Amino acid sequence: MEWVSNILQEITQCKQIRDLEALRLKVFGKKGLLTSEFSALKNIADDEKKQLAKELNKVKQNIESLLTTKKNELEEFEFNQKIESQKIDVSLFNSVLSPTYGHPINITFDRIIDYFVGMNFSLKYGPLVEDDFHSFEALNLPKFHPARDMQDTFYFNDGMLLRPHTSPVQIRTMEEEKLPIRIISPGAVFRRDYDMTHSPMFHQVEGLVVDNSKEINFANLKYILEDFLTYMFGDIKVRFRSSFFPFTEPSAEVDISCIFCNGLGCRVCSNTGWLEVLGCGVVDDNVFKAVGLKDVSGYAFGLGVERFAMLLYGVNDLRSFFETDLRLLEQF
Ligand code: PHE
Repeated sequence: MEWVSNILQEITQCKQIRDLEALRLKVFGKKGLLTSEFSALKNIADDEKKQLAKELNKVKQNIESLLTTKKNELEEFEFNQKIESQKIDVSLFNSVLSPTYGHPINITFDRIIDYFVGMNFSLKYGPLVEDDFHSFEALNLPKFHPARDMQDTFYFNDGMLLRPHTSPVQIRTMEEEKLPIRIISPGAVFRRDYDMTHSPMFHQVEGLVVDNSKEINFANLKYILEDFLTYMFGDIKVRFRSSFFPFTEPSAEVDISCIFCNGLGCRVCSNTGWLEVLGCGVVDDNVFKAVGLKDVSGYAFGLGVERFAMLLYGVNDLRSFFETDLRLLEQF
């Protein structure tokens, strides 16, 4: 069986896993060298057969063990080669400045905040992990109130929750601060939702103005939101649509004329000519009661930052904001 030493040599010199597999088949395949030797046994006399079979089994073991050793060796080599080729030198200095200067959500946040800071609002932040009182109860959403279904909330086992909107900050501000109150509150919020226009984590900006003056009324709210939306979107029409929120009365949803078709009707505005961008209203008296305020008036509003960013930058899948894909980010 001279082929044996040839094969052993070929295996030893083999450089690729693919070739190694070919060699294995050459020996052990259906018409392989060793397979043929084994099937030839049946034509051999019994006394010789035993001896030859023993030898063949030994050959078989030798080749198999060499194949295994070689395979491990080649796999390790290929693995190291792959690592080497994908190596990143983190110490390399990149002299080409990246054109990126911010995430679209941050840029949108900044624009919104700039407007309201210019209008003498201050910034107020609240916790992401909230309790039931600040998220619902004090906002005139008592337990079993059907409006609680409006928010699909993430709960912890101890009854705490991930805030489903920034409105709890309204309550915290009224508890903690003296009048007059004039704040916006930017931050992350969480809901059980995931599709083209919803993500389980997104961002809102809440606004709250409270004072013991009759000057704080719906007309104020209407003025400032119209001015704000013009600042954000340019030459657009704004309309207030009567709506419902448990914590405001009266409540409104605010639409702008579609910035993609100028109000003529297109796919983005579902042919209505309008895009909904805000929720707002005059603070409900029950909310003031919950924080122990009397003889005051106020207005509040809330908006989704991703929604604004999608409209401003023509991004049609909200999820792409959170994929950290440089090809998207480099456009900003
Ligand atoms: N919290 C409301 C929401 O998440 C928005 C809102 C805020 C509406 C303040 C009215 C007043 O949809």
